[in-house]
Amino acid sequence: MRLLVIGGTSFVGRTLVSDALGRGHEVTTFNRGLTGKDVDGVEALRGDRSTDEGIRPLAGRRFDAVIDPGGLVPAHVLRTARATAGSAPFYAFVSTTAVYRTWDTAPVDESAATWPGAADQEGDPADLGKLRVHKRGCELAVEQVFGLGASLIARAGSIVGPYDNLGQLPWWLTRIAEGGRVIAPGDPARGLQLIDVRDISVFVLDQVEAAAGGVHNVVPDGTNTTMGRLVDTCVRVTGSDATPVWMDEGFLLSQGVQPWTELPLWIPDLPDVGGFWAVSGASAKAAGLRTRPFADSVRDTWEWLRSGGEVQAAPGTPPFGLAMEKEQQVLAAWDSRQAGDN
Ligand SMILES: NC(=O)c1ccc[n+]([C@@H]2O[C@H](COP(=O)([O-])OP(=O)(O)OC[C@H]3O[C@@H](n4cnc5c(N)ncnc54)[C@H](OP(=O)(O)O)[C@@H]3O)[C@@H](O)[C@H]2O)c1
Repeated sequence: MRLLVIGGTSFVGRTLVSDALGRGHEVTTFNRGLTGKDVDGVEALRGDRSTDEGIRPLAGRRFDAVIDPGGLVPAHVLRTARATAGSAPFYAFVSTTAVYRTWDTAPVDESAATWPGAADQEGDPADLGKLRVHKRGCELAVEQVFGLGASLIARAGSIVGPYDNLGQLPWWLTRIAEGGRVIAPGDPARGLQLIDVRDISVFVLDQVEAAAGGVHNVVPDGTNTTMGRLVDTCVRVTGSDATPVWMDEGFLLSQGVQPWTELPLWIPDLPDVGGFWAVSGASAKAAGLRTRPFADSVRDTWEWLRSGGEVQAAPGTPPFGLAMEKEQQVLAAWDSRQAGDN
């Protein structure tokens, strides 16, 4: 197939490009040339979809499908969809499960209510506060131009794997590789639902090849690992002498440790985030999604880091990880609590 990938140089897009080339497709990428290097073997078009002038390099081109992995601003996606509507019969967009109003508070499937979005909304790609509404607007832009039958909306959950551009699993690997006593949050049995970027890529390409339109949550169908296995697997693959120190969540919160950002992928087991790791993946599974063992994601992300891979943070991404000084303070407070000193 002749595929147009918008972006294609960071994480999800980069993986899609390299997998598509591996399947023998001809791949054209379209980006500004700012974020990363194009994968060898593509035809690289330079342009900027944030303006009418910038999208012109797409004029007069023909493709069998457009894949849009990284759209963050509805008006930019609408412009891209309009520019390609006459020249490609199918459009695949990578969205997020955060488009559901209640995705973090309650279990959701594809029938759950979404945030209102507007297909022509302008915005700042780095404004993560608007991500949920903007991504929904992006989906509407695709639906408006291509229709639901000729478009794939792949709503990804939390993504892990090589070329990670958020840096959550890479932080755990790097910290644990340093060794010593490492804070491990909450209950080791707490389930997590993490999707490998390569599994998203296989799923999207399969749907694109079959021109199978639809809306799917692209997540494992149920939790696929635990906090304990995450920590233990990081210890194992890095060969570290790190010793996890499991601390209860109430203590960590009382110490001002921020879930998700300071201790990445830690979501406290509290009712107001009771849906965080409970998104239904049944629809994608029925459509063919297969998910690899989580340990493979950890091993391959470590291999990527060890071979010089660096996290190139996506627009608006907060820094992830706990400062060493704060970690030491929290460990000391924990020791003193355990010793009954306070
Ligand atoms: N990480 C997670 O856990 C997670 C969870 C759920 C959903 N998601 C979604 O997954 C997607 C990940 O995307 P990605 O960053 O990995 O995609 P990507 O395609 O690998 O990288 C983003 C691309 O967009 C290009 N780009 C940015 N602005 C552009 C513009 N104005 N015109 C043309 N190209 C432009 C960038 O290149 P230039 O800068 O060189 O133009 C870059 O190649 C996002 O949509 C995110 O919302 C992520």
